[in-house]
Amino acid sequence: MNRHLLSAGDLTRDDAELVLRTAEELRSLADRPIKKLPALRGRTVVNLFFEDSTRTRISFEAAAKRLSADVINFAAKGSSLSKGESLKDTALTLEAMGADAIVVRHSASGAPHRLAHTGWTRSSVINAGDGTHEHPTQALLDAFTMWRHLAPGGAGKSGGGLDGRRIAVVGDVLHSRVARSNALLLRTLGAEVTLVAPPTLLPVGVEGWDVETSYDLDSVLPKADAVMMLRVQRERMSDAYFPTVREYSRRYGLDSRRMGLLQEHALVMHPGPMVRGMEITADVADSSRSVIVEQVTNGVAVRMAVLYLLLAGSSEPTLTTSDPGASE
Ligand code: NCD
Repeated sequence: MNRHLLSAGDLTRDDAELVLRTAEELRSLADRPIKKLPALRGRTVVNLFFEDSTRTRISFEAAAKRLSADVINFAAKGSSLSKGESLKDTALTLEAMGADAIVVRHSASGAPHRLAHTGWTRSSVINAGDGTHEHPTQALLDAFTMWRHLAPGGAGKSGGGLDGRRIAVVGDVLHSRVARSNALLLRTLGAEVTLVAPPTLLPVGVEGWDVETSYDLDSVLPKADAVMMLRVQRERMSDAYFPTVREYSRRYGLDSRRMGLLQEHALVMHPGPMVRGMEITADVADSSRSVIVEQVTNGVAVRMAVLYLLLAGSSEPTLTTSDPGASE
């Protein structure tokens, strides 16, 4: 693995499978009374969030703490960033405090690359979402969730993986870093990806993504092994991309009628946050097909795997629970 995780496209198939196998081992920790390993004791992980986040920030924090790292949470609001301090000065400050990993979310596409490649810091940089560009750990947790349900022999077993599985990603692809990272990673893992959206919400240049596209959700659902619904990211929209919410839901929302078109084994997924009643109805989100809550649980295991592999070495972990007395 590289020292940084900036793009899902940087992961080879071997890298990605190593993360998934490691996550599978680490996930069993969630069921133990003491959810902690000593692997990153003495290491410092900084969560540097310039954009709002609930699950991603908490997930990285839980992951780092379960590996016994020290965690510093740094949100733009309430810090000197709101006084106009630059990314560079922030990075130099974190470097001076001895950060080993910086988990960064930023509204500007490319900010994590900048941090990793300018020499401002020697830390490992993990992209936790940059603008409309990428969100690689979200793609890894999504792939991990699919692997656990869809891969022959289960997650972590070599052979098969997601080869030939059909994944539909539906909604606001244009503004979605989740869609881009998923498309890259799922192709690396051998899955077939179909992006479903109104023409206005597909990015220019999508022809180069090595995926199929469709404007017709009903025709895609019967073939899908998993359908991933995306939120319409209105905070990133400066124009009207569809006539009305009602019209959007009618054409691209997942309701119980449409869920009925899915195969028996097909999964319903969503990275969160959901807008119930818009891209997904409440009954579908809460149905037995939905693995949306499991995605959140899996997110912690996947982020533990990423932190472990970037900071503690590239081998797979041995699962010895830490001495409870040793953890703070
Ligand atoms: C997404 C994000 O922030 O990119 N959510 C997440 O990280 N789980 C998608 C979204 O905001 O809709």
